Amino acid sequence: PETGCLSIIVLGASGDLAKKKTFPALFNLYRQGFLQSNEVHIFGYARTKISDQELRDRIQGYLPRGNDGEEDVSNFLLLIKYVSGSYDAPEGFQALDKAISEHEFSRNSTEGSSRRLFYLALPPSVYPPVCKMIKSYCMNKSDLGGWTRIVVEKPFGKDLASAEELSSQIGELFDEPQIYRIDHYLGKELVQNLLVLRFANRLFLPLWNRDNIANVQIVFREDFGTEGRGGYFDQYGIIRDIIQNHLLQVLCLVAMEKPVSLKPEHIRDEKVKVLQSVLPMKDEEVVLGQYEGYKDDPTVPDNSNTPTFATMVLHIHNERWEGVPFILKAGKALNSRKAEIRVQFKDVPGDIFKCQKQGRNEFVIRLQPSEAIYMKLTVKQPGLEMSTAQSELDLSYRQRYQGVVIPEAYERLILDTIKGDQQHFVRRDELKAAWEIFTPLLHRIDKGEFKSLPYKPGSRGPAEADQLLEKVGYVQTHGYIWIPPTL
Ligand code: BG6
Repeated sequence: PETGCLSIIVLGASGDLAKKKTFPALFNLYRQGFLQSNEVHIFGYARTKISDQELRDRIQGYLPRGNDGEEDVSNFLLLIKYVSGSYDAPEGFQALDKAISEHEFSRNSTEGSSRRLFYLALPPSVYPPVCKMIKSYCMNKSDLGGWTRIVVEKPFGKDLASAEELSSQIGELFDEPQIYRIDHYLGKELVQNLLVLRFANRLFLPLWNRDNIANVQIVFREDFGTEGRGGYFDQYGIIRDIIQNHLLQVLCLVAMEKPVSLKPEHIRDEKVKVLQSVLPMKDEEVVLGQYEGYKDDPTVPDNSNTPTFATMVLHIHNERWEGVPFILKAGKALNSRKAEIRVQFKDVPGDIFKCQKQGRNEFVIRLQPSEAIYMKLTVKQPGLEMSTAQSELDLSYRQRYQGVVIPEAYERLILDTIKGDQQHFVRRDELKAAWEIFTPLLHRIDKGEFKSLPYKPGSRGPAEADQLLEKVGYVQTHGYIWIPPTL
């Protein structure tokens, strides 16, 4: 691994994302020894004029406390310096460069030690000016070696055209290997497991196709609304907030062909192919919803048509998947919080147990909470009678990996940016293909041509969504529910 001076610069340091996700993730990496205090300096940058100490005070309440909590926290906070400035004028960035350089030179740097990671915890509207400033004033010092990398977060635009514009503005300044587009779902433990599950197990290889799989669901549910984020959310809606990025990335990993190798480019090549094979959506295979009370938020316009719920069916036009509906479903203010992938298998041909059965085989990957992989099977009900029952083979992480802490998505992804591993980041052509799928629908929703149906907060969402599932062939299991094991 590389050694020497590493500067992590968090732009938008006093914003929500930085406080709730970026700094806590950096702290966890520090605590586990991935950020060495003799190498790493963290810089916060934002417009507000505050002191180093004031920034530290703002962050500290968000840092998770372990057993030996306080000492770690105060040592970590000492690594953080603050520079204030605007996002589009040279002065602030010159000051930032000076602060970083002082740190680099004071370390008596040797070759390879000017490593600069810029984390843009900012709204995308300022990405172009900020990138320009970084490029003009803050690049790593080439005589010291090292690199400069940029980390950006969604929303990457609002549709195909705006996303492409943003990509080309950033692309003029930085090369693709320097740009890390975060989709934090790619940092989740069970999403990362998909590649291993699919390609390291003989068991799945012959089954993973249209001959055996009836349908695939990728589901995201939250049991709270857009509290406090109405202003942001109303501009985007559930499709841009969750489906176009998080769920679609998961779909790629479920559906893609085996990559040539584990190299990031090989994996991303396969993901792009899946996206390019997705057919245009049909109106009758989309249901949109908006929970009652959403518009009570003063930052949401009274006539908003923005969906807070959507169920839609994607079809992948290739040899493996033709005819298999991929159902993407996401909603806020529903009756539960969970994210999962549910692969439902077809009925057994010539089934002699048909009239006794509760349901089909399903392979479920529970992303959160209660991370698990389970397989729903029909087995003989134990006892004297020859009757059947639905059961499961269950690999529940809490039980199987007791005492193992599952890393936070952001923690893992930031570590990847430091190591220079782009496997779990979205490539430019992937982003483009993702927007191509959703842009026609999004434009119609924005124009009010596709209406969101009302649903009650705390419900399953509009009943029409369940009807759509049934229509495309999902068969619900009756009288059985998987219960995560308790210890
Ligand atoms: C974010 C969305 O990207 O993901 C939020 O903007 C959503 O609306 C969040 O709540 C969900 O992330 P997680 O990791 O809690 O499932």
